[in-house]
Parts: sequence; C-alpha cells; structure tokens
Amino acid sequence: MGNGIAHVCARAGCEVVLYDLEQGFLDRGLATIEKNLAREVAKNKLTQQQADEARGRITPTVDREALARCGVAIEAATERFAVKAEIFRELDRILPGDAILATNTSSISITKLATQTKRPEQVIGMHFFNPVPVMQLVEVIRGLQTSQATFDAVHALSKQLGKTPVEVNDAAGFVSNRVLMPLINEAVYAVMEGVATAEAVDQVFVLGMAHPMGPLTLADFIGLDVCVDIMRVLADGLGSPKYNPCPLLVRMVDAGWLGRKSGRGFYRYPLQ
Ligand code: 3HC
Repeated sequence: MGNGIAHVCARAGCEVVLYDLEQGFLDRGLATIEKNLAREVAKNKLTQQQADEARGRITPTVDREALARCGVAIEAATERFAVKAEIFRELDRILPGDAILATNTSSISITKLATQTKRPEQVIGMHFFNPVPVMQLVEVIRGLQTSQATFDAVHALSKQLGKTPVEVNDAAGFVSNRVLMPLINEAVYAVMEGVATAEAVDQVFVLGMAHPMGPLTLADFIGLDVCVDIMRVLADGLGSPKYNPCPLLVRMVDAGWLGRKSGRGFYRYPLQ
C-alpha cells in the first residue's frame, strides 16, 4: 500500500521520501504510481502537469538516513509486529524529535508499537484502504499515550489528502478488519465445506448486497497471506478461537497462492 500512500501524499502537495529495502521494490512501486497517475489524467481527474508535479515530489531511496528531513513518517511494511517494531526503533532514531510516526497497520496495537520509541505521544495509526487513491476512508487510531496534538495533526493531514478520517480506538483489527476479516474467513469456510463455489459466494454479495467485489475476490485483492496474518492478530488480541484463520485459507497461503499478486488465489490472474 506504500505506493498508494505516496501517490495521495504527493498529489496533495507534500514532498515525499519513499523508502524501501531494495531498488527493485522502489522501481515496482514507482511504476504503479506512474500507471495510476496516468489513469487519473485519462479520467480528467488530474492534468498532465499536476501528475508530473506529483511524480516530481516523490524522491525514492534505499537509504534510511534520508528520512531525517521528514516531519511525518507513514510506515506500511509487512503486518508482523517484529518487523514494524524494528522500523519504529529506527524511525525514532532517525527522524527529528518533533516528527510524528504513523503506522498503516491493519490490526496491530498502536500502544504496543509506541513502546518501541521514546516518543509514544507522537505515535498513531493511519489506516488506509486499497486502492488508496480511490478509497475515501482513513481510520485514525490513537494509542493509549497518543497526544491530542498528534491526533489533530493526523486528522488534518488526512483531510489534506482528500480523505475522510474516522476515529477508532486501539483494539485488534480496529473496526474495519475486526468486521471485514471474519466475513472473508467465513466465506472461505463456505467454500471449504462445499456450501457453494467461490464464484457463487461472490455473486451472493455482489448481486444480493451490492458489494463492489465479493469477499473472495476482495481476499485475492488484499492478499491471502495478509488475511491470515490479520486473523492471527485478531485471534491473539481478542482471545477467541472464532478468529482462527480457516484451514483452507492457511493451506492456500502454504501453497503460495497469495491472490492477485502471486497469480493465483480463489481465482487466476495474469502476472504482469
Ligand atoms: N488508482 C487510481 N484510480 C483507480 C485505481 C488506482 N489504483 N483503481 C481504480 N481506480 C479508479 C478508476 O479509474 C475508476 O475511476 P472513475 O470512477 O472515475 O471511472 C474507479 O477507480 C473505479 O475503477 P474501475 O472502473 O477500473 O473498476 P471498478 O469499478 O471495478 O472499481 C474498485 C474497482 C475501486 C477496486 C472497486 O471494485 C472496489 O471498491 N472494490 C472494493 C475495494 C475494497 O473493499 N477495498 C478495501 C480493502 S480492505 C483494506 O484495504 C484494508 C486492509 O487493512 C486489508
């Protein structure tokens, strides 16, 4: 989701330092940003000049120290506590003392991540939705120690990005994934138990409930590995076996069927 977040920040006039571990990841992210800016130009949402200016505001780097000039960091790494904890310790070391450290986590505790830093009052959740340039929502999540000034700044930043911030409390999965992931998980159970095919499950939601995509198409879009990771965070954080990931979902991830990004999930996709 990092490329989508960089896209909306640059489009809104912010200077963006886009950091990733490897040049190849950056090249892929930039190619996606350029493709999506071109799509917005084609739909007359942006002029070519605005798209070029937005692209020009993004500086890619594999050097963490380049983040030293940032006033806000928005981390969007893998949904594992250990990975994010290491990044937060580094952000705390590198960024100026008054900078805000935000995480695009989809389920991990903000309060717990904040303990990895010496500035827990400046740590906050800023949860975007895919495709980031299109979806209106940002869930803004306060940790126990998040200050009002940090909350107000991130609320205002979300609006500057053209999004609608919604405040939620720091509980596993927040609101979005607490409700969405059990729906997806239950849809996988319906397939595993032979209640219906994946296509039929999706049709029920598209035609019967006017969802833009059925839950299994959406799972492929999000990534089945991400869905399993989030279910595990829910199971750990909420302490109920009802949040255990469906065995079929786990088996598909074990097989490398991660959804759209791997070419196969509940459906097959051409790899670009
Ligand atoms: N960048 C910029 N614009 C994009 C885009 C992108 N990546 N993808 C689509 N668009 C634009 C299109 O240009 C089009 O614009 P228009 O309305 O002005 O013509 C509009 O979005 C709709 O796109 P399409 O016509 O190509 O396709 P669809 O009508 O099928 O819509 C969709 C695609 C927006 C993805 C729609 O299917 C949808 O809303 N799906 C549900 C998405 C969803 O639920 N996301 C949340 C996932 S959960 C999450 O992210 C949280 C995490 O923690 C797991």
